[in-house]
Amino acid sequence: MLKLNQPIIMKKYFFALLLSAFQLTAFCQTKTLVAYFSATGTTRSAAQKLAKQHNATLWEIEAAEPYTAEDLNWRNKQSRSSLEMKNPSERPTIKQCTDIRPYETIYVGFPIWWGICPRIINSWIDNNLEQLKGKKLIPFATSGGSPVGPAVDYLRETYPELDWTEGILL
Ligand SMILES: Cc1cc2nc3c(=O)[nH]c(=O)nc-3n(C[C@H](O)[C@H](O)[C@H](O)COP(=O)(O)O)c2cc1C
Repeated sequence: MLKLNQPIIMKKYFFALLLSAFQLTAFCQTKTLVAYFSATGTTRSAAQKLAKQHNATLWEIEAAEPYTAEDLNWRNKQSRSSLEMKNPSERPTIKQCTDIRPYETIYVGFPIWWGICPRIINSWIDNNLEQLKGKKLIPFATSGGSPVGPAVDYLRETYPELDWTEGILL
């Protein structure tokens, strides 16, 4: 009787072992977040691809007051984006908070504005500063041609307590 049941028991053990192995792999894998701001959609599609590639959670950093086309007019010195970028302490309000605690690696994406990141990225970092400490932060950007280097330098200078890797221009 015992002999008859043996293959069934073996099968049960095998599947239990397989399940534990999957659970262990999932537990050991570091969780990745792709957090990004996008005013006109270019950084959004780059972020979506990145999140798929890295099996990461996607989070859009949104302004409480969305940017209009006039807000984004960089030719107008009085437009919202021009005024925000002119003032380094400007911190546009964010629509919703992110819980970044479960993530070890965080891609931080944005369009290049006047050579660096939009001030809303500062708002997001300031809101999460304590939790961001000790995490691996990978800046990525889209632009009309400007490199990402100066934006990364700016982030490193502004937040020396955070661990910034090299930036990626997508
Ligand atoms: C206010 C403003 C300033 C910008 N400044 C720059 C710049 O300095 N260098 C550059 O290459 N592109 C600049 N751009 C272009 C954007 O970086 C580029 O179009 C980006 O891909 C837009 O991303 P998004 O669609 O995710 O908002 C600027 C765009 C705006 C609206």
